[in-house]
Amino acid sequence: MAGRIPQRFIDDLLARTDIVDVIGARVQLKKTGRNHSALCPFHQEKSPSFTVSADKQFYHCFGCGASGNALRFVMEFDRLNFPEAIEALAGRAGMEVPREGESDEQRQQARVQARRQEEAVNLLELGTRFYQQQLASGASQSAHDYLKRRGLSDDIVSRYAIGYAPAGWDVLKRHLSEKGVDENVQIEYGLLVRKEETGRSWDRFRDRVIFPIRDWKGRTIGFGGRVLGDEKPKYLNSPESPVFHKGRELYGLYETRMQSKRPERMLIVEGYMDVVALAQHGVDYAVATLGTATTEEHLRRLFRLVDEVVFCFDGDTAGRQAAYRALNTVLPQMIDGRQARFLFLPEGEDPDSLIRQEGGKAFEQRIVRAGSLTEYLFDHAGEGRDLRRLEDRERFASAVLEGIAKLPQGLLKSLLMRELSERTGLERSTLEEISEGRARPGVAASQTPQPQQHASSHESGHSAPLARKAPPRRQQGATSLSMSGRILHLIVHSPVLVEALPEGEAWCPEDDDGQLLLEVVRLVRAGGYRSSQVLLAHFHGSSHGSRLLTLLQREPLIPAALRQREMEVLVAHFEQQRKRSSPERELEALQARERNGEKLTREEAGRLWQLICELKR
Ligand code: UTP
Ligand code: MN
Repeated sequence: MAGRIPQRFIDDLLARTDIVDVIGARVQLKKTGRNHSALCPFHQEKSPSFTVSADKQFYHCFGCGASGNALRFVMEFDRLNFPEAIEALAGRAGMEVPREGESDEQRQQARVQARRQEEAVNLLELGTRFYQQQLASGASQSAHDYLKRRGLSDDIVSRYAIGYAPAGWDVLKRHLSEKGVDENVQIEYGLLVRKEETGRSWDRFRDRVIFPIRDWKGRTIGFGGRVLGDEKPKYLNSPESPVFHKGRELYGLYETRMQSKRPERMLIVEGYMDVVALAQHGVDYAVATLGTATTEEHLRRLFRLVDEVVFCFDGDTAGRQAAYRALNTVLPQMIDGRQARFLFLPEGEDPDSLIRQEGGKAFEQRIVRAGSLTEYLFDHAGEGRDLRRLEDRERFASAVLEGIAKLPQGLLKSLLMRELSERTGLERSTLEEISEGRARPGVAASQTPQPQQHASSHESGHSAPLARKAPPRRQQGATSLSMSGRILHLIVHSPVLVEALPEGEAWCPEDDDGQLLLEVVRLVRAGGYRSSQVLLAHFHGSSHGSRLLTLLQREPLIPAALRQREMEVLVAHFEQQRKRSSPERELEALQARERNGEKLTREEAGRLWQLICELKR
C-alpha cells in the first residue's frame, strides 16, 4: 500500500500553489482591494462574505465560518480526502506525490501503471464520446424511442452520458483504430471481443443503449449496454480490466457527487435503469452495484460521503436474501454515528417501475420510512419463531447475537444488547458472555470473568477492558507525556472527567495529543459516554486508536479519587502558560494543523484569520 506523504512535500506543494488560482478555477472571484471575494460556495447567501487572501494563501467565510488553505478548499469543494486533495493539487502543479518508504523500483512501477491507466481512460473516454455522438446523430430512431419510452429527458441522458452503440460489427473498432488506438488495447479494456481460434475481433456492444460507468473523478472506466428489445442477455457489461473492478465501483456515484447539494444519505439499488429513473424523478442520490452484491469496499466509499446508507431491495425471495447478505456486510462498519436502513419494495416492482408509477415524492416517503438496521436484524432473527416459547427465544437470541458480534464496539452494540435482553428476558451478562465467546473463541474460554471493579460508578463496558487483557507492562510516569497527553490519559481512563472541563475548547493545549484530546472530548460530550471501550471502539483501526490504547494500558499513578483535581490543575496551568505565550506561536500551531489537513472549528478559523491579519500587517 502507498506510504505516508512526506510533510516536506506537502509544504513544498503548498508553497507552489496559489490559492487564488485554485479557488478561481472553481468559484467566480471578484477582486476587492487586496483580497478576492465571492458568494460562499459552502452556504447559501445573497451577498458575498467569502474572502480569499493571496498574501495569506487563506480563505475565510464570515458567514458560515468555512476557512482554510488551498488544500482544505479542494477537500471541501471537490469532496476529496486528504491524500486525494494532495494528488489533485500536485497533478495541477505537475508534481508527482512521493510516498515514504517507497523504493525507486516501486516508484517506477507506479509511474508506468499510472501512464497505462491514463491511456486506458483516454480510450474509454473516446468510446463514451463516440456512443454519445451516435445517439445524438439520430442514427438510430429506435434508440431514441426507447429512451423516450423509459421516460428519460435529454437532461438526464446527458448527465449520465448515455449513448448508443450502433448495430454494425466494427463501427467502434474502425473509429478507434483511425484514432491510432491499438487493437490489443481495445480488447484489454473490453471494447472489442476477439475469438482466439480465428483471431477475428468485433465490437462488444452492438445495437445497445450504453451507460458509461465512471469512477469517482468522472473518468469512464467501463460500460453497461442494454438491448432495445427482449433479446438476451439484457445487459452486457465491460469485463474486469486494469481500471474496472466491479466489487469496487458504484454506478452513479460520480453523478451524485456532481449534484450541487451534498446528499444526507445514499440509496443502493440494483440496476442502471433504477439509478437513472430515480434521478429523473429527483432522487439523485442513488447508486447501483454492478451485478454483484454490495461489498465492504462499496460501503466504505459511501460512508466516506454520507453517514446514512439505505439499501433498496425487491420484495421477493431473492431480494430478501440479498438484504441479509447486505446486513452482514454492513454490520462491521456500523461505528457510532452511522446509519443503515432497509427498504423493501412491493413484490414485482423495482425502483424504476415504482417511481414512474407513484412519483418522486411518494418514493422518497418510502425511503424516509425504511426500517432501521436494528429493526431488520430483530425481524429477520424472529422470522418463523414464536417468541412465547423458550426454545424459540433462545434461537432468536443467538441469531441476533451473531449479528451483534459483527458490530464494532460502540453505542449501537450496547443498545442492541440491552434491547435483546429486554425482548428475550435473558440476563445481559449471559448474552454478553455468549457473544464474547462467539467473537473471540479461545479468549473467553480460557479466561475466568474478572470482577468489574468500577461497575458502580461507570458503565465499564461489556467486554473486559482491553487494558486488563494486555500483558503487564512497566509502569511509566506521566512526565514523558505532553500537557494534552496527560489530560487525555486521565480522560481515557475516566471519560466522565470530561464534565469537569471548562466549556468550549479554548482550554485545550495544542501540543502533541491536543487534537486527539479535543476529538475525544467532543465525542464524549456529544454521546454522554462513560466507558473507555466506546472511545477505543470509535477510533479503532486508526493511529488515534492505537494512541488511545497505549494510554489506556498505562495505569495512571494518581489515585482515582484525585484525578479530577489533577486534571483541573493541568488545565489551569496551561491557561496561564498560554496567556504568556506569543500570538506567533498560536498562529504557528493553527497553521501547522491546517497544513496537516485538519479541519479547524469555526472559532479557531476566526482566530486564525485574526492572527494572520494582525501579524502580517
Ligand atoms: P434487472 O434484470 O433487474 O434489470 O437487472 P433492470 O435494472 O430492471 O433493467 P430494465 O429495467 O429491464 O432495463 C439488474 C442489474 O443486473 C445486471 C445489471 O447491472 C442490471 O442493471 N444485469 C442484469 C446484468 O448484468 N446482465 C443481465 O443480463 C441482467
Ligand atoms: Mn427494471
